[in-house]
Amino acid sequence: MAKIIGGITTSHVPAIGGAIAKSLQQDPYWKPFFDGFGPVRQWLAETRPDTVVLVYNDHGLNFFLDKMPTFAIGAAAEYRNADEGWGIPQVPPFQGDPAFSWHLMESLVAEEFDPVSCQEMTVDHAFTLPMALLWPDQKWPVKVIPVCINTVQAPLPSAKRCWKLGEAIGRAVASWAGDERVLVLGTGGLSHQLDGERAGHINKPFDLQFMDSLVGAQPDWATKFSTREIVELAGTQGVELLMWLTTRAALGAKVTELHRNYHIPISNTAAGLMLLEPSV
Ligand code: DHB
Ligand code: FE
Repeated sequence: MAKIIGGITTSHVPAIGGAIAKSLQQDPYWKPFFDGFGPVRQWLAETRPDTVVLVYNDHGLNFFLDKMPTFAIGAAAEYRNADEGWGIPQVPPFQGDPAFSWHLMESLVAEEFDPVSCQEMTVDHAFTLPMALLWPDQKWPVKVIPVCINTVQAPLPSAKRCWKLGEAIGRAVASWAGDERVLVLGTGGLSHQLDGERAGHINKPFDLQFMDSLVGAQPDWATKFSTREIVELAGTQGVELLMWLTTRAALGAKVTELHRNYHIPISNTAAGLMLLEPSV
């Protein structure tokens, strides 16, 4: 049986790609952000996951406003980074696992989710940069299964629905016949808003409460909010925290928090990072 060995949640700001390209990890602006990943890389070196279920939102690269699935799952043998307009360097392709992807799809559909299956899928900064933060040599030692959640165009799935999706992902992994050690990686957030009158909005007290909630007695605390309320609290793009909720739900009832980092700002974003292990 495949097993979820941990969950990592991180922000995915495109400027990280520029900082990596220019080797700015020790630069005073970037250091507090990049330093956060040391303990995560140490944990990855020790635990060596085989497969990453990567929960993220596409920003208009693979899906545009004309066709916007609420949930989509990659079932390709390979995923390539494509130019998405931020001027950041491309990263090497990622190896998929179509058989495992189809199992995930079948399992989710059996649980009354209706994801779009993608046998071809290009991936953007929300996918590539967290991977580059986890494995800076960009020699990906894992296969990847993309789970894409719409946070770009209304109507967005509710936090409650994303929580249930995460739980279903947890069950799907547990029922896969392989013996893979699976990492769930959720990217996006925390609070940020790139557009409109509130551009630059950041809500530190909310972010901290949200992170605490994920490791507390009520990890689904944020499911009490509608997506509109989350946008109000965390910003129009801060709603990407739905990936964090999905990831947390996949880990089961109790988790151990192994590491956390929170830093304001990276570009327009409050950058968060958590490393969680399911408790047995
Ligand atoms: C920024 C953050 C994002 O999540 C994103 O997708 C694009 C840009 C930013 O803060 O610059
Ligand atoms: Fe984003």
